[in-house]
Amino acid sequence: MAVVAVVGASGTVGSVAARALLGRGHEVRVLGRCRQRLQPLVDAGAQALVGNLTDVDYLTAAFAGVNRVLTMLPIEGLAREHRSWQDLIGIAMIDAIAANSIEHGVFLSGLCADGEGDLGLIEALEAQERRLRELEGVNVLVLRIGTYFENLAAGIHGLRRDGVLVDAIEPDLPMAMVSAKDVGSIAARALDRPGYRGFVVREVLGERRLTLREVVGIVGARIGMPWASYEQASPESYVDGLMAGNFSRDVAVLLADLAVAFNEGRVRSDPSSARVDWPWTTFEDFADELTARYRAAAT
Ligand SMILES: NC(=O)c1ccc[n+]([C@@H]2O[C@H](COP(=O)([O-])OP(=O)(O)OC[C@H]3O[C@@H](n4cnc5c(N)ncnc54)[C@H](OP(=O)(O)O)[C@@H]3O)[C@@H](O)[C@H]2O)c1
Repeated sequence: MAVVAVVGASGTVGSVAARALLGRGHEVRVLGRCRQRLQPLVDAGAQALVGNLTDVDYLTAAFAGVNRVLTMLPIEGLAREHRSWQDLIGIAMIDAIAANSIEHGVFLSGLCADGEGDLGLIEALEAQERRLRELEGVNVLVLRIGTYFENLAAGIHGLRRDGVLVDAIEPDLPMAMVSAKDVGSIAARALDRPGYRGFVVREVLGERRLTLREVVGIVGARIGMPWASYEQASPESYVDGLMAGNFSRDVAVLLADLAVAFNEGRVRSDPSSARVDWPWTTFEDFADELTARYRAAAT
């Protein structure tokens, strides 16, 4: 059995991965800023290491004696200079890996992380992929992932209130969408039995491509609002909406730039890249679960 560190372990992907690794008998270290949010994993047998990913000394100590690691660059909606913040974390992560004897790492990246033009929020992931590629003596699996179903959870409140989901993506753009929980299970499998050598990229595309118009139709039917609609905001009003929802201007602009990159076809699957095969959660399964949770919270 291996010693496995899970970065972002209180998050959606990390918590699923940590639980699965504990279930397979590994010694699991869970990293995050808040002990309380890590406690359910501690109760399940993990060791919590509380600290900030910007702190290279914390990370270096957390990775001491670790064989395998799940890494990511979290998103901080309030950050004023998000790219610099993510670069700081990315470099700290690389230094901490290099200072220890880690053999295998999985990195959660985005689709088309080596694509052309301004890719907004995805660009930091591309930079981290480059750093990981240069690491010597560590086998790295990069998962280039489509859009998480879970991103839509925030939008269900507006859908319920106004019958409209607003985003900056074109309504009929087919997008690779996937359950973040599936990604956690995929990462756990890759850390449980790491069959990759060197620097390996795999795309994680989910069951099928979906448009946001279809997504609203599926959720709308389940919440008793079959007339619910999708509305595409301009990048400018999308930024204003995000800032009203407490995002910093910098993060809002990075998200709007990413939406433009999607609309212009610059965030897409690479046909030459191998894909992960998985028993995917369907969007309908996710919508059933989301609706049940929403109903339970409303009663
Ligand atoms: N959303 C998408 O559609 C998408 C698509 C492709 C790839 N991805 C990648 O998938 C990754 C994981 O997604 P997710 O949904 O599981 O993320 P998440 O639920 O937002 O979780 C983020 C985790 O990072 C921790 N964290 C945040 N800032 C930290 C800091 N400064 N120091 C220490 N820990 C920190 C959080 O814990 P605490 O807050 O408790 O510290 C939490 O455990 C993302 O990083 C993203 O790059 C996302």
